[in-house]
Amino acid sequence: MSVAQERRKKVTTHVLSEMKMRDEKIAMLTAYDYSLAKIVDSAGVDVILVGDSASNVMAGWETTLPITLDQMIYHGASVVRAVHRSLVVVDMPFGTYQGNSKEALTSAIRIMKETAADAVKLEGGREILESVERILSAGIPVMGHLGLTPQSIHKFGTYTVRAKQDEEAKKLIEDAHLLEEAGCFGIVLEKIPATLAGQVAKEVKIPIIGIGAGNQVDGQVLVLHDMLGINQEFSPRFLRRYHNLFAEISGAVGNYIDDVKGLEFPNEREQY
Ligand code: KIV
Repeated sequence: MSVAQERRKKVTTHVLSEMKMRDEKIAMLTAYDYSLAKIVDSAGVDVILVGDSASNVMAGWETTLPITLDQMIYHGASVVRAVHRSLVVVDMPFGTYQGNSKEALTSAIRIMKETAADAVKLEGGREILESVERILSAGIPVMGHLGLTPQSIHKFGTYTVRAKQDEEAKKLIEDAHLLEEAGCFGIVLEKIPATLAGQVAKEVKIPIIGIGAGNQVDGQVLVLHDMLGINQEFSPRFLRRYHNLFAEISGAVGNYIDDVKGLEFPNEREQY
């Protein structure tokens, strides 16, 4: 298969595992709507995460907790309708899988049936293992998420770096092994020391995707609205902004307002 054909091939969990084996880095970004997902997919990103960060960047909530299962399904289905190549993972929202593995399976089945996504992502380790196992037993691919898990923000109290202390680092390593043994196809590690993330990526065979977890992992994920500079309210050290879309869009909108008010738009050619 040529490099061009390889780039167009639909990404599956198996493809991600092969990428780890040949040490090819995995590029993952979030998307929440049809139009931007179409651009992100056609640009060639490997994995699109319909993150519950939609709660922040799409709905304007301070945390990820308020977003509902119906809302995540709406975002997931919008993204899936746009995507041809990327693997699409939908976040299970807060309150749909913790502490009740039957409800977790029901929620995951709704996501898979109503969005046609490829996989779901859950936050946590040992404490949600029963839910992870039950979802996997239905043949639904699961991605884990350890380190800073924003759905637990009220337990943590802050969004600072996690697992700096030995005890928390040890639990994180154990959790990563548990998720791998359960059958997860990958794990997101958020905001933890780079050496710890590198150690996890070495110890487990499944792909480890980092956000604020350094460069010794198997891939990277960023929130699309942060890396494009649409959202200017969030500037952690790990974030690289690839554009300043806030300025671009507000400049274009300003030009439109000036044209309308100055009777410059529409002109002769723009009317019937
Ligand atoms: O919801 C989200 O966007 C995420 C990423 C930060 C990994 O979980």
